[in-house]
Amino acid sequence: MPVTARAAAPEPAALDLTDPQTFLDVDQHAMWRRFRTESPVHWHPAGPDTPGFWVISRYEDAVAVYRDNKRFTSEKGTVLTTLLRGHDSAAGKMLAVTDGVRHREIRNLMLKSFSPRVLAPVVDGVHRHTRELLGAAVAADRVDFVTDVVDHIPMHTMGDLLDIPAADRPQLVEWNTRTLSRHSSDESEFESLMARNEILLYISQLAAERRANPGDDVLSTLATATIDGKPLSDDEIVLNSYSLILGGDESTRMSIIGGLIALAGNPEQWRRLKSGEVTSESATEEILRWTTPAMHFGRRALVDVPLGDQVIRAGDVVTLWNASANFDEDVFPDPYTFDVGRSPNKHVVFGHGPHFCLGAFLGRVHVNAMVEALRAMVADIALLGPPQRLYSNFIQGYSGLPVALGAEPAGEEVR
Ligand code: HEM
Repeated sequence: MPVTARAAAPEPAALDLTDPQTFLDVDQHAMWRRFRTESPVHWHPAGPDTPGFWVISRYEDAVAVYRDNKRFTSEKGTVLTTLLRGHDSAAGKMLAVTDGVRHREIRNLMLKSFSPRVLAPVVDGVHRHTRELLGAAVAADRVDFVTDVVDHIPMHTMGDLLDIPAADRPQLVEWNTRTLSRHSSDESEFESLMARNEILLYISQLAAERRANPGDDVLSTLATATIDGKPLSDDEIVLNSYSLILGGDESTRMSIIGGLIALAGNPEQWRRLKSGEVTSESATEEILRWTTPAMHFGRRALVDVPLGDQVIRAGDVVTLWNASANFDEDVFPDPYTFDVGRSPNKHVVFGHGPHFCLGAFLGRVHVNAMVEALRAMVADIALLGPPQRLYSNFIQGYSGLPVALGAEPAGEEVR
C-alpha cells in the first residue's frame, strides 16, 4: 500500500469496491481518507448481479458493529463475496459464520487448543524455524522473500498443530492463496472455488483417518470432541479445521511480508528496532496495523440500526473496513507514519468482540518471530524489484518479493 494520503483519490461514489482492480489502481490511504471524511457510513450502489451494501470506514463505527452480534449476524457471510451472494454454505457450522449458543460452544472448544498457555511450547518452535529459514536467506545472494521464506512458516506451524504431512503443506499454501485472493486478474473465481473444494476434500480424508485413529493434534481433538455428550458433526469438524488452515496461513504471511517492506522503506524505524530503542512487541503491533492483511469483514443487519447519520435497514449488508479503521486519524495520531514505537496501538487487525480472531496470539507470535530474527541476523535489507501485489478486495499482500538480506557480521548478532 502506498504510504501517503496526499495523492488524489476518486470520490467514494465513483469507486467499485467489488472489483479487486480498484485496490490496485487507487491510492488506498487517500481513498479511505475520503470515505472517512466525506461519507463514513456510505451506501455502495448495487451491481448488475449484486445488491448494494454499506461501507463503514471509521474506527468507532466498525468497532460498534463488530461488537454487536445481536443486531448484526455473521451467518449470512462475513466477506464481500459471500455477503453479496446472500449466504455462506458453512453458516451455523464454521465458527466465523456461526452466531449464538453454537458459536460460543465451538469457540470455547477450539480456544482450548489456541490459548497462549497451551501454545507456549509452539512459540519456541516458530522462532527456531523462522531463524533457520532466514539464515538460509541471508546466506544466499538473493531470495524471493515470499516463496523461499515466508510461505514455509505459518503453514509449518499449522501443519504441526493439525499433524498434516509435511509433503502436503506446500500444496495447501497454494490452495489457500487461490481461495482467498488471486495472483492476477487472469485467474477466475471458479479457480478459487475449486481450490476451496480441494482443501475441504483433503481435510475430510484426514479427519476420517483421525476419527478412527486419533492422535494429540488439533484435528484429532475436533474429530473426537463432544459438546454436551454429542460429537461434532462431520461438517463442523471439516469446516473448522479448514478455517484454521485458511485463517492461520494467508493473513499471517501477508503481515510478515508487508513488515519487511515497511522496515526496508523506513530506515529510521529499522534503526530504532536494531538498536533496541523499541521492543519487538511494539514493532510487531505496528507491522500488524500497517499491513492490515484482512482488509474487510462484514455482517448482515437483523433489524434497523442507526449508525452515524444513516439508518442501516434490516437485511442490509454492512462491510467493515479494517484497512481504513486502522488509519483513522481520530484514533491513531499521524496514521500514515510507520512508527515501530507507536503506543497505544489498539488496531482492529484481528477484529473485535465476539468473533475476535481465535488465532491472534499465534498470528502475533509469527510476526514477532520474524521481527526478532531480522533484528538479530540481518544488517540491511535491499528490495531488488517491485513486490508483486495480490489481486483481491479481501486480502492485501504480495505473491513475490525479490530481496537481498545482508548478514550481521559474525559474532555481532543483535539480541
Ligand atoms: C477471526 C484476522 C490469524 C483463525 C478473525 C477475524 C479477523 C482475523 C479480522 C474476525 C472476523 C470477523 O469478525 O468476522 C486475522 C489476521 C491474522 C489472523 C490479520 C494474522 C495476522 C489467524 C490464525 C488463526 C486464525 C493464526 C488460526 C489459528 C481465525 C478463526 C476466526 C478468526 C478461527 C473466527 C473466530 C470467531 O468467529 O469466533 N481473524 N487472523 N486467524 N481467525 Fe484470524
